[in-house]
Amino acid sequence: MTKQIWIVANWKSNKSIQEASSWIDSVGPNLPKDNLLKIAVCPPDLDIEELRNRIKKNGYPIMVGAQDLSSFDVGAHTGEEAAKLFSGWVDLAILGHSERRRELGESDEMIAEKVKQAKGSGILPLLCVQDNKTPIPEDVTLVAYEPIFAIGSGHPDTPEDANQVATQIISTHPRANVLYGGSVNFANVNSFIAQPAISGVLIGGASLDSDSFVKIVQSILEANHE
Ligand code: PGA
Repeated sequence: MTKQIWIVANWKSNKSIQEASSWIDSVGPNLPKDNLLKIAVCPPDLDIEELRNRIKKNGYPIMVGAQDLSSFDVGAHTGEEAAKLFSGWVDLAILGHSERRRELGESDEMIAEKVKQAKGSGILPLLCVQDNKTPIPEDVTLVAYEPIFAIGSGHPDTPEDANQVATQIISTHPRANVLYGGSVNFANVNSFIAQPAISGVLIGGASLDSDSFVKIVQSILEANHE
């Protein structure tokens, strides 16, 4: 198995600037510089500047992403973070996560606007879908299949099922890379990566601990070069 693989950490609402700094100080030096791996961390907005500065200064092979951005352009939208404000600070943005759909009422239409805003600011949208029925805007090239029952539950989908959903997504969006997310950990990660239609993983809980994240990256690297 040798292919390009995305490994994206989603910290959700965790880690102060100080905690984010110590995570990158211990993860950064242990990340492999490998052309086939695309590694990214999506911290809370407040951590982005410090993380990015440390990554740049030390040349760590990891991108920074936002966990969301506004469906509006810059302007009078209190509390919103417009895509343009992230420009130059993040490479990608997670959009349409099921926690935002559920807790904040985000609709498919709003998420489609967010995709437009991200693209207009040169930010790669990583669109989360919960099943193969979630609409995917045509120009989206990075999708994460994250079934709701699997998120944070310790009960991931089966790799075969995830592969089937990814295959269906690719059949209608041939340019899409499809990641799997939902209770991914060191023990199960390579069973997902081994699936032909899966191009990586979106990792929540297991990305928070620096050692756990490094172990996951290293095991993917080894399996990808076997
Ligand atoms: P989990 O979260 O790995 O903790 O299940 C994944 C996600 O919600 O992106």
